[in-house]
Formats: sequence, C-alpha cells, structure tokens
Amino acid sequence: IKYYLINLDKIMNIHPINKNNDFVAFVNNIDISKNISKTQAEQLDKIINKYAVIVFRNQKITDDQQIKFTEMFGKIEESGSKSNITKPKDRRLSTKLADVSNIDKNLKVFNRDDPRRIFNLGNRLWHSDSSFKKIPAKYSLLSAKSISIEGGNTEFADMRAAYDKLDNKVKSKIDNLICEHSLIYSRQRLGFDMTDKNNTIEINNFTPVEQPLVRTIPMTKRKLIYLSSHIGKIKGWIRPDSMCFINDLIEYSTSAEFVYVHKWKKNDLIMWDNRQTMHRVKDFDDTKEFRDMRRTTVL
Ligand code: OGA
Ligand code: MN
Repeated sequence: IKYYLINLDKIMNIHPINKNNDFVAFVNNIDISKNISKTQAEQLDKIINKYAVIVFRNQKITDDQQIKFTEMFGKIEESGSKSNITKPKDRRLSTKLADVSNIDKNLKVFNRDDPRRIFNLGNRLWHSDSSFKKIPAKYSLLSAKSISIEGGNTEFADMRAAYDKLDNKVKSKIDNLICEHSLIYSRQRLGFDMTDKNNTIEINNFTPVEQPLVRTIPMTKRKLIYLSSHIGKIKGWIRPDSMCFINDLIEYSTSAEFVYVHKWKKNDLIMWDNRQTMHRVKDFDDTKEFRDMRRTTVL
C-alpha cells in the first residue's frame, strides 16, 4: 500500500503540507467541474485514506458538479430529514447538500437568536460529521462560495497521530470502549437543549447511537480515536465520568501538534475523512458578514 501511495503522489500531483507527514495534502491537477474517471476516483480515494484531509483550490463549481463529484465516492447522505430546525420550505439548497452558511434563502444573514444560527454553532465544537447517526459520514466535501473577511478558519485534527502518541496504558483502557453519540448531547454543551421544549420529533430522531471509541481504517490498517462533541456517554459508565474522560481526550487530541488550520480562499474545496479526523469552525462576525459554505457528504 505504501509503495502504491508514494507513486500516486506523483501521478496526482499531490503536495503534502509537511514532508514526511501524512496529514493534509493539496491536490493540484483535478478539475471538479469536469467529470472524473473511475480510475481517478479510486486514486483520490487512496489519497484521502492516506492524508485524511485534501484541499483543492480554484474550484468554481456548481452545486450539481459538487454532487456529481461526491457521488464518485459513494452514496450521498441526504440533509435535513431529521432535524426540525429548518423547515423544508425554508431550505436554500437541495437536500443533497448541507447548508452550513449563515444565510437564509433570501440571502439575509441569520439574526443572533435565530434557532438555525444557534444550531449551526454546534460546528464550533470539535466533531466528526454525523457521528450521531447509525451510519455516520465517511467523507465531507465543503465548498467555499463566499468567505468571511476575518476569522472563520476551519481546523482539522489528526485522530490517527493522536492515537499513536497515547501511552500504552490509555490505549488498552480505551481499546474496547463504546461511546453514545447524539446531536442532543453536542447542543446541550452549548446550553441549547433540544429536549426542554418536549420536542418529540427531535428526541425520537436523535436517540443516542453507539460507536466504538477506537477504529481501524481498513485500507491503511491505522488505528485512531473516534471522537466527537456528539458523545455524551460511554457505555456502562455514568454520564459525569464519561464527560470528564471524553473532554480530556478531546483536549489532548486537538493540541497544536495534531491540528491543521485552514485559512479559506474563495472556491476552495476541502474533502476530509470523518473517520480519521475531527474538525471545527472558528468564530467570525456571523451576524454581519456573509459566509456561504456548502457541504456534500458521503455515507
Ligand atoms: C461542516 C462543518 C465547518 C465550517 O460543514 O461539517 O463543520 O468551516 N463546517 O463551516
Ligand atoms: Mn462538520
């Protein structure tokens, strides 16, 4: 696998951000507005298995082109069917895209107390997309249509490197742990309790799902810590102990040595592997500035 991946770096014009490192690479000779071949998709699949985060610059693409490109990597996760926060009639984009912007369908920025804005603030917490679903997200592809002047960076943490550097005692402690993930847990961290209005739709749709804390990537055989702010409990533990333990692990695995900070340019498209990374967006002046970001997600 290693030998094959080294050769691929040349074929695909891959530029890792650090030599001798396998976290984050820029991919230069792909035009996402054009159809890519099955072979190219397979090569990119290997690249993302290796680097976990890949960045494509200058991709002026339509939503349909983004959808088509995404579908080369698997089935798309449809957006919006579970949460009641955005009504179907208020959607700005197709359900094949997750709208992680701060604007409504009339292109007005959300008011500070708009539930949609508050819901989106969950993206400020370290997470892995859809880890609260039975079938979570594999890859996410985020296209920057319009970026903020200041702030709004997206940060990525390498959960394989974090696993590798754990001491053996912790490794054996976490090896067989199961975590319970729910969107309700991550929103509770923000003081936004979806259960306090007896919102039965949300309570039923966001029943916690179980995910192993340590996973292995089949293609590379690398182990990683599968963390997310959606975790609210470790199976068999009480909640306060779970939260303390998970918070410590999140703090450790998002320390600077494991993190890449992306400063967006308009028309960047980043594809990341949710199995191997966590990410979060940083603050910007979101009640004034426009930030139009569109995500497609592979199941
Ligand atoms: C996402 C997400 C971060 C951002 O799209 O899944 O967390 O930078 N977005 O908007
Ligand atoms: Mn996300």
